[in-house]
Formats: sequence, structure tokens, C-alpha cells
Amino acid sequence: MSVKKALRMGDARLLRRAEEVTAFDSKEFHELLADMRDTMQALDGVGLAAPQIGINLRIVIFGVESSPRYPDAEVVPDTVLINPVITPLSQTKESGWEGCLSVPGMRGLVPRFTHIRYQGTDQFGALIDRTVSGFHARVVQHECDHLDGILYPMRIEDLRNFGFISELFPDQNNQEE
Ligand code: NI
Repeated sequence: MSVKKALRMGDARLLRRAEEVTAFDSKEFHELLADMRDTMQALDGVGLAAPQIGINLRIVIFGVESSPRYPDAEVVPDTVLINPVITPLSQTKESGWEGCLSVPGMRGLVPRFTHIRYQGTDQFGALIDRTVSGFHARVVQHECDHLDGILYPMRIEDLRNFGFISELFPDQNNQEE
């Protein structure tokens, strides 16, 4: 499989509403997932949505073993999530720093729901239904936003909390989402 180029903010393909997946478990489908995994790993990301490589389908992948950027963050299991639905379990939001493979070199402070339920299927059509919080919830909300054409800078409430990693966090070596 291969590493694809991540589309960058400004590319109109990142602003589309992605379409539901209706066909699972085909050769093309598994090749697409392999490309997404390869691309995410090559770019050292914690998540990737299909629209970021120009595929307009409701597919996200994510997973975090451990991240120097989030030393206290929980481990997020490697997940393929298709046709996701997110339900906030409270209206409480928390702000946290995010990055994105489509907005390279930058970080922004983004409010997200702290507790969510997410549902969807995996690449074989098996149901996924999880209740999560904190960093896991943040990653899922970030990735699923891509399926509705939303990039994290659109959610920053105060643009003074948006900038280049090298200026905001000069000592850090960072991953992208
Ligand atoms: Ni992103």
C-alpha cells in the first residue's frame, strides 16, 4: 500500500460532507484503509479521516499508544470507525490543544465535549459502540468533524490561541491529528 499526500487546509475537498459507506469488505475498501494507516503512520498522526486523502467517505481511523505531546493522555485503541454517530453525554466542554495533518505546523485551543458516546462500524461491518471521555473523546470529535467539512481552526473560540507549534511550544516535538 502507499503513503498518500494529506490535503491541506484551503483545499476545497476538505470542506465537503463525506458520503456514507455502503459497501464493506471489498478489495478496494481494504486497500483504502491500508493507505490511510500508512499515511497516518508516516506522518506520525494520531488520527486520519478519509477526506484528508481526497476520499469523500465517512471513514476515520485513530489510535494512540503514547504521545509525547500528551504525556498524561490515556491510550486510545487502534480503531477503524465507519459511518460514525457521536452523541454528547453532557454539555460540558473542555478546551485542549489540537493539531491536524491538514494544518501542518500549527496548534489551536479547541473546546470539545468531555463525555461522548460514539457508534459506527468497523471495516467488516461489526458494530462499534463506546462511551469515552477526555482525550479519546477529543480525538474522535476531531476526526469525525472532518467528515462534515470542519477543520479544528473553525472551532477555535479565541484566535489568539492559534499559532505555529514552534512558537507556542518551542520545546516540544509534536504529533498531528
Ligand atoms: Ni485533522
